[in-house]
Amino acid sequence: MKIRKRILGISGSTRVNSSNHKLLHAIATIFTDQIELSIFDGIEKIPHFNPDIKDAHIDNQVTIFRELISQADGVIICTPEYAHGIPGTLKNAIDWTVGSGEFSGKPTLLITASTEGTSGHQALLEVLKVIEAKNIDQLQLLVQYIRSKINQDGEIIDKDTLSAITRLGQQLIVTIDEANEE
Ligand SMILES: Cc1cc2nc3c(=O)[nH]c(=O)nc-3n(C[C@H](O)[C@H](O)[C@H](O)COP(=O)(O)O)c2cc1C
Repeated sequence: MKIRKRILGISGSTRVNSSNHKLLHAIATIFTDQIELSIFDGIEKIPHFNPDIKDAHIDNQVTIFRELISQADGVIICTPEYAHGIPGTLKNAIDWTVGSGEFSGKPTLLITASTEGTSGHQALLEVLKVIEAKNIDQLQLLVQYIRSKINQDGEIIDKDTLSAITRLGQQLIVTIDEANEE
């Protein structure tokens, strides 16, 4: 029996009815035989990043966030764009990993699912490149007009989006296998 990959899902939206949350759940359903997805639910509890705060004084939520990334075989980030940029809550959480390096070499899939999303997607891609997320140039997708592409039940109703996500999910799994062989 094949062991399912442990994937950490991170949503850049804290909205209850978020399309990005729905997208993460949809991915878990599509790949139910291959991945075990747990969604990080403490992003808004992470304190403001401050490089003066050293190890012994790091907030527990930050430690949990870092450990969950480290323990995961791969990460999927689904996020909207806010004001043509990365949502502050998400960027703040990622900033806590820059020095400690949890994303370095970690197979990571970035999906920006927004109304337009171009600038935020590019900005986050650049961040993930600089913190060395594995294969990030390939493992990325911008889904525009997301609210017309996923329904209230969390089903992806746009054929092209569904096929792009299915292809990228497979590519994430291949990248994880490659990372494990290195
Ligand atoms: C504060 C705020 C700023 C936003 N700015 C943008 C933006 O610059 N570009 C864009 O494509 N969508 C923007 N949106 C709309 C979001 O893309 C849209 O609400 C999306 O559904 C949010 O994702 P969610 O459903 O996962 O919360 C903004 C929404 C909010 C609340």
